[in-house]
Amino acid sequence: MAKREQWGSRVGFILAAIGSAVGLGNIWRFPYAVAENGGGAFLIPYFIALITAGIPILILEFGLGHKMRTSAPGIFGRINSKWQKLGWWQTMIAFAISIYYMAVIGWSLRYVLFAFDLSWGNDTKDFFFNSFLHGNGSAFNFTFHLDLLIPIILIWLINFGVIAFGVKKGIEKATKVFMPILFLAIVIITIRGLTLPGALDGLNYFFKPDFSKILDGRVWIAAYGQIFYSLSICFGIMLAYSSYLPKKSDIVNNAFITAFGNCSFSLLSGIAVFSILGNMALNNGKAVADVATDGVGLAFVVFPSAINGLPNFNQIFGVLFFLSLFFAGVSSSISIIETVISAVTDKFNIKRITALSIICSIGLVLSLVYATGAGLYVLDIADYFLNNYGVAVAGLIETILITWFFNIRSIKDYVNPISDFAIGNWWIVSIKYVTPLLLGVMTILKIIDDVTKPYGGYPTKALMIYGIGIMVMTVAVGFIISSLKGSKSFEASMKKRSEK
Ligand code: ALA
Repeated sequence: MAKREQWGSRVGFILAAIGSAVGLGNIWRFPYAVAENGGGAFLIPYFIALITAGIPILILEFGLGHKMRTSAPGIFGRINSKWQKLGWWQTMIAFAISIYYMAVIGWSLRYVLFAFDLSWGNDTKDFFFNSFLHGNGSAFNFTFHLDLLIPIILIWLINFGVIAFGVKKGIEKATKVFMPILFLAIVIITIRGLTLPGALDGLNYFFKPDFSKILDGRVWIAAYGQIFYSLSICFGIMLAYSSYLPKKSDIVNNAFITAFGNCSFSLLSGIAVFSILGNMALNNGKAVADVATDGVGLAFVVFPSAINGLPNFNQIFGVLFFLSLFFAGVSSSISIIETVISAVTDKFNIKRITALSIICSIGLVLSLVYATGAGLYVLDIADYFLNNYGVAVAGLIETILITWFFNIRSIKDYVNPISDFAIGNWWIVSIKYVTPLLLGVMTILKIIDDVTKPYGGYPTKALMIYGIGIMVMTVAVGFIISSLKGSKSFEASMKKRSEK
C-alpha cells in the first residue's frame, strides 16, 4: 500500500482545518440560524455547545485520526469491527451534504456576477426564487435549467482539480491561497458594515439575549447542530484531515486554534451581516427582527437588498461578499469530498484519481436535482434533516460508543504527552456525560416537535422523500459499503485491532 500522505507543515494543517470549518456554515447558515432562533438568544446555547461538545469532540477526532492514521470507517472499525458502519454512515452524511453544498457555492458564484451590475433588481425575493431558481411553488417541479447546472459542474470541477493533486500539493496549497483572501474580504466587509448608519441596531439584535428563548429545546438543538456542522465534526471530516498529520504533531492546541478560529470567524460574519441588516432596517423604517428573515434565502434575498441600499460602493461590496461565500465554500467542500475519497481509498486500496473520478461523477449526477425547480425545497429539507438528525445522531452514537464502550482514558493519555498543553478530566466529563445527555434529550424533543409540527410547513410527501428518504439512503448505502470486502491490508487492520 502506498505511504500515507502528510500535511507539509503545522500551519498548513491548521489552515486546512480552519478552511474546512469556516464555510457556508459561517456566512450563509450562521446568520440565519441566529435570526431564526431569537437573535442573541442563540449565542448562549451556541457557546455552551462549543465548550461542552465542539472542542471536546474536535480533540477526540484529531486524536483518533492522528493515532489510527486512517479515515472514519477504518478508525471506528479498528476499535470494534462492527463500528465500521458508523464510519461509513458519517462518510455518507458528508457525501449527501456535499451534493447540496456544491449547489450553494454555485449560487454564490453566480451572485458574484450579478453583483457587478446589481442585476437582482429591487425585488430580490422574486429574483432569487423565481427568476434565478425557477421555482414555481411546487416541491415536485423537476423542470431542468441549464443555467443552474453550469455553475454546479464548474464547482465540481474545481474540487476535482484541487483534490487530484493530493493533500499537500492540492488541498494545503489551495487553502493557503483561499484563507488569507477570505479573511481580508470579511474584515473589509465588517469594517464597512460597522460604519453604516443603523449598524448598532443590528448589533443590538445580534448580541442581546432574549432569555425567554433559552428554555426552547429547538434553540438548543439548532445550536448544537450548527456547532457540529460548522466545526466539521461527527461526519468524518476532521478524522480524515487529522489522519494526514505527521507523527510529531500537537493535538489539543490545534483543536483549540481551529475551534476558536472558526467561531471568531462566525462572529465576525455575524457582526458584518447584522450591521448591514441594521442599516437596511433603518432605511426601510422596520425593526431588525423583521428584515432578518427568509431562512436559506437570507444571504441571497435579504443581503442583496441590503447591498442595494448601501450609500456607495454597492457593487464592490456585493462582489466581495459573494466572493467570500465562494472561497469559504470551496475550502470546505474540498474537505467534505476528501473525507469520502480517503474512506474509499483506505478501504479498497484504489488510486486517488480513480476514487475521485467515481465520487465526483456520482456527486455530479445527484446534483442534477439542484438544477431543477424543486432544488431549493430539496436543499432546505435535506439540510435540515442531515444536520438535525444525521450529524447530531451520528455525534450522539460516536460519543456514546467511544466513551462508554471503549477506554476513553487511553485517548487522553495518548494526546496529552504530544500536545502543547494537556487536557484534564473536564474533557472526559464533557464527552462522556454532558454531550450525550444533552444530545439525547434534544433529539427526543426534536422528534416530538417535528411530528407535531412538520418542518417548514412543507408537504408531508416532500419531507418524507427529501428528508427521511435521504437520511435512510445515507444509512443504507453506508451499511452496504461497510459490508463489502475491503483490500487485504484493510481487512487485516480491522482484525488486528478488534481482537485486542
Ligand atoms: N464546516 C463547514 C461549514 O461550516 C461544513 O460550512
